Amino acid sequence: MNKYFLLFFLFCLTCISSLKAQKFDELAKTPPMGWNSWNRFACDINEEIIRGVADKMVESGLRDAGYVYLNLDDCWHGKRDSLGFITADPVKFPSGIKALADYIHSKGLKIGIYSDAGRQTCGGRPGSFGHEYQDAQMYAKWGIDYLKYDWCTTEDINPIGAYHLMSDAIRAAGRPILFSMCEWGHSKPWTWAKDTGHMWRTTGDIYNCFDCVDEHPGWKAFGVMQILDMQEGLRKYAGPGHWNDPDMLEVGNGQAVNQDRAHFTMWCMLAAPLILGNDIRNMSAETKKIVMNKEVIALDQDTLGVQGLKVATQDSIEVWFKPLAGGDWAFCLLNRSKVDKEYSIHWQKFNFDDEVSKRSTNFYNTTYAINNLWTKKSEGNTSKDKKVLVPAQDVVLYRLSKGK
Ligand code: GLA
Repeated sequence: MNKYFLLFFLFCLTCISSLKAQKFDELAKTPPMGWNSWNRFACDINEEIIRGVADKMVESGLRDAGYVYLNLDDCWHGKRDSLGFITADPVKFPSGIKALADYIHSKGLKIGIYSDAGRQTCGGRPGSFGHEYQDAQMYAKWGIDYLKYDWCTTEDINPIGAYHLMSDAIRAAGRPILFSMCEWGHSKPWTWAKDTGHMWRTTGDIYNCFDCVDEHPGWKAFGVMQILDMQEGLRKYAGPGHWNDPDMLEVGNGQAVNQDRAHFTMWCMLAAPLILGNDIRNMSAETKKIVMNKEVIALDQDTLGVQGLKVATQDSIEVWFKPLAGGDWAFCLLNRSKVDKEYSIHWQKFNFDDEVSKRSTNFYNTTYAINNLWTKKSEGNTSKDKKVLVPAQDVVLYRLSKGK
């Protein structure tokens, strides 16, 4: 009897573990960083642009700052061949994806590619539906390191099944490929995708605007502030290996420098994947300063891997904290309004216990040194309250360091 019970128990365990997707666990211990073609180039990509971007990622220092993934988005595809294998668009990518991947790898970068769980991508190219294992095999053969998997034309497909299927296909193909799920948050992937993918979009597409919504019949795209608001309540679901993705950055795509700084800062406070979306071949000095600020990037890449939280709002100023490894905190004041504002920081008002990180700010017993990460100046410590000016649609960002 006991023997049969044990056998039955083992059988059940096998069933359960084969149902659980097996993503490559060692990837994305910190939020992925890189560049993606969509926000700036949409469907107008080709191998010359991508090679140029690869060169610039190295020359500009972006790669060494951590931006290692170079991701093709929609519209790289040609047709499927007679056996159903996907090929590259022969006009845009005449040398093929394998040659491009080799070039990108020779620069010390990694290459990302894009597909869709439906029959067609959002740009009308062949999707992976019915070809999941073939596509994953082809990506592995080409040397792909990252797959963004979109959700257009999926009609009544079940998202859990569809993403699980592609995750399994990647696993079976044998190459560690970071799996970026782009399902726009419809089925709350943060509640089910931890073992399926390494990151999941939490919202519809970002729109290149600081504070507005771009409305169309049937769909909307969201400005930076709108996307920020939609992250509320999601921080407990993210952590090393599985990240909330509030979409790719619009920094350097035409917003004002203060807005770009606020956008980049808030994505770092959210421990968001930092995927640039500008034309890095022609980057202004201001954009460079923002996206290559090592101390700000370090907040995003902090190994504790806990998202920041909003602890107070007062007259359009939001107060955010992010716990960091080793006991430090990131502290950010975000001014959402179009006028400069003064804000008085009373540190003792911000004593709180964070349920996600199980850490406390403990301003009663701890004095933190204050370093301003944008001005790069030290501003004393938290033993005294202080008044600061927060410029319109901008941030004041501090690292509060313990024991110094
Ligand atoms: C969707 C995605 C975008 C982009 C486009 C490409 O809208 O959410 O990020 O990949 O498709 O067509």
